[in-house]
Amino acid sequence: MRNMRMPMARRRAMAVVAAVLLAGAVAACGNSDTGSGGDGGDDGKLVLGFSQVGAESGWRTANTNSIKEAATEAGIELKFDDAQQKQENQIKAIRNYIQQKVDVIAFSPVVESGWDTVLKEAKDAGIPVILTDRAVDSADKSLYKTFLGSDFVKEGRLSGEWLVENKKDATGDVNIVELQGTTGSAPANDRKKGFAEAIAADPKLKVIASQSGDFTRAGGKQVMEQFLKAHPKIDVLFAHNDDMGLGALEAITAAGKEPGKDITIITIDAVKDGMQALADGKFNFIAECSPLLGPQLMDLAKKVHAGEEVPPRIETEETTFTQEQAKEALPNRKY
Ligand code: AHR
Repeated sequence: MRNMRMPMARRRAMAVVAAVLLAGAVAACGNSDTGSGGDGGDDGKLVLGFSQVGAESGWRTANTNSIKEAATEAGIELKFDDAQQKQENQIKAIRNYIQQKVDVIAFSPVVESGWDTVLKEAKDAGIPVILTDRAVDSADKSLYKTFLGSDFVKEGRLSGEWLVENKKDATGDVNIVELQGTTGSAPANDRKKGFAEAIAADPKLKVIASQSGDFTRAGGKQVMEQFLKAHPKIDVLFAHNDDMGLGALEAITAAGKEPGKDITIITIDAVKDGMQALADGKFNFIAECSPLLGPQLMDLAKKVHAGEEVPPRIETEETTFTQEQAKEALPNRKY
């Protein structure tokens, strides 16, 4: 009512001011989407561009949650991209982050090779890069500041050592099938290597088939079905992650065999579903791989942004679980 009594000229002037203010607000929102220079976000926050592998497993979901929660906690503006397990998507995301002049780039490389060109572009732009979870095979170590993640060779070795001990009294050949992770990825390469080195201690332990299930449940199920059709005697399954092991359980049960008894099952990760299968006697052993990298990553991002020296490699502390240990640990398992 009061407005109606305002002179027309004054009302017009106020409308112009409101339009200008609105345009400014819209432009500011646009900036926060597209990045805001190398000296922090619009609100002075450190800006971290993170390229995630995808959402292929329970482990990956827990890892994504850890990174998102830790960024909020640390007051870091996170730009997050899901590469859907494709290297070209990760390269595109990293180039976008360079263009947006983020402060720090972090990524979990889907495969080990083929990163030198884009990492050089980040280096030339003066943006520090942190590798999380998975490593790259670049000879030039100056292309990234540090690696934060697991010792995948050790996880494979611990799995193999448990098997050597568990089958020490077995008579005759022990036939093993292996479900590998994504072809060319660091965890697939390293876990395979560590496991092979450990089981070499006992010549009766034989890997009779080894194929990628791409770290997914569906992949694990499908490849296990093929293994079961092709090989009448399978004594052991070594799956490079819980999800593939869980998929394989379905194939094993459908083939009329009892998982954990007719076929000994070893997996890696120790996510809740995997731990449940272990506690239920369907898996026999899990080597842990921790996805909770968020808090350490945020700490490192702040340090490299401040130009502080950081160690070239930071390894996560991990353990292993038997069926009894899984029963004990399960009630407190967070992911
Ligand atoms: O790089 C870590 C591996 O990737 C985890 O073991 C697996 O579950 C994930 O997909």
